[in-house]
Amino acid sequence: MKYTAPRGTQDILPADSWKWQRVERVFRETAERFGYKEIRFPVFEETELFARGIGDSTDIVRKEMYTFPDRKGRSLTLRPEGTASVVRSFIEHSMGRGARVTKLRYFCPMFRYERPQAGRYRQFWQWGLEAIGSLSPAIDAEIILFSVRYFEGLGLERTEARINSAGCPSCTPAYNDLLRKELAPRLERFCDDCRERYERNPRRMFDCKNESCQALLSDAPSILDALCDECRDHFAGVEAHLKAVSVPYVIDSGLARGLDYYTKTIFEIHYTKLGAQSALCGGGRYDGLTEELGGKPTPACGVSAGVERLISALEEEGAFPNAAPGPDIYLVAGSDGAAELNVALAARLRETFSVEMDYQGRSFNKQMQEAGRMNARFVLVNQGEGGPLKLREAATGWEVSPGEGEIEKAIRDRLASP
Ligand code: HAM
Repeated sequence: MKYTAPRGTQDILPADSWKWQRVERVFRETAERFGYKEIRFPVFEETELFARGIGDSTDIVRKEMYTFPDRKGRSLTLRPEGTASVVRSFIEHSMGRGARVTKLRYFCPMFRYERPQAGRYRQFWQWGLEAIGSLSPAIDAEIILFSVRYFEGLGLERTEARINSAGCPSCTPAYNDLLRKELAPRLERFCDDCRERYERNPRRMFDCKNESCQALLSDAPSILDALCDECRDHFAGVEAHLKAVSVPYVIDSGLARGLDYYTKTIFEIHYTKLGAQSALCGGGRYDGLTEELGGKPTPACGVSAGVERLISALEEEGAFPNAAPGPDIYLVAGSDGAAELNVALAARLRETFSVEMDYQGRSFNKQMQEAGRMNARFVLVNQGEGGPLKLREAATGWEVSPGEGEIEKAIRDRLASP
């Protein structure tokens, strides 16, 4: 019997996990600067939460959820996204007390039963932000700005922010009618899924992956021409705020999101070199969701991004160093006696530095090769009883012979020198 990771899932091995650590660390640092505090929520929730929150007519709820009964027959679902869970938690813990704006972040795996392909998995990681409690377009712009700045902070410069509006319950019914009327004469040329979307929610047709459907929509009426005054003003406010912080964006009236909770602003940030799955992140405003899930009416806006896609984009861009960062020191034993002494020496040095050493009685040359393979910054050769220590910086060849008590200082001085 040979076991493999389930289809659509992957192991993240040490050769790559350092990239994940970097992406997560920069996310944490950037989110702290923008004032988003961490929330951790369960891997599974009651199925009803997602069915109501994300919407019964969405692909996620209809085809992609991992849903199972527990031992008491309750229907549970592995979270396919974070927004519904965050809003559930916001309501459950009365986080909006005092009419504050609650700004939350998360970085965790999500689960969707999708057809796996490059950039699309069944277990994938998302980072996300949710800002709950403000109607101001400044929040929408802040979330877009965060995403762009975070990508830049990782070394990804050429991303493209696309924005649109999803309207609100007072302007979308008329737009849906208009769309149905315009598309009716060519309806039979759309795919089966789109014909179903036409009945349930015609705006969802814009989300179809089928090129021939997209071509049929090219001259469809734009939602931006059908917005009510409030949505139009809000959209203008988002644009003004984006201009004020110099975030370039394009208006894409064909942009549709795969979740039903959106109102007003929707956006995605793409890295076009990734091909079909080029959306690094997507989000928008969801002013009706808190009420839909049983809370007081509370406006909100958020974003989430696929971490696997982000890492692929960073690799494509050459934004990671060539090799994983190595230990500070590789401790080489120049004799059998030194190998024994190295155990205690490593323990001492590990109070200050990361230290690797040989555990297999390998030859001096093999240990030196291993130090290079591990990309150790310094090699410390211990000859054993009475023999001199040799400390060498791998990249420059800089070398000294410190006394046993002087190793830490020698390294610290070297690291501090310009
Ligand atoms: P979403 O567009 O479904 O939005 O997902 C956000 C991002 O997650 C996508 O842009 C993509 O990078 C990544 N992603 C989605 N599905 C997969 C998959 N199967 N494999 C790999 N990556 C994937 C949401 O999830 C909303 N909760 C965003 C949001 C937050 N809206 C408001 N707040």
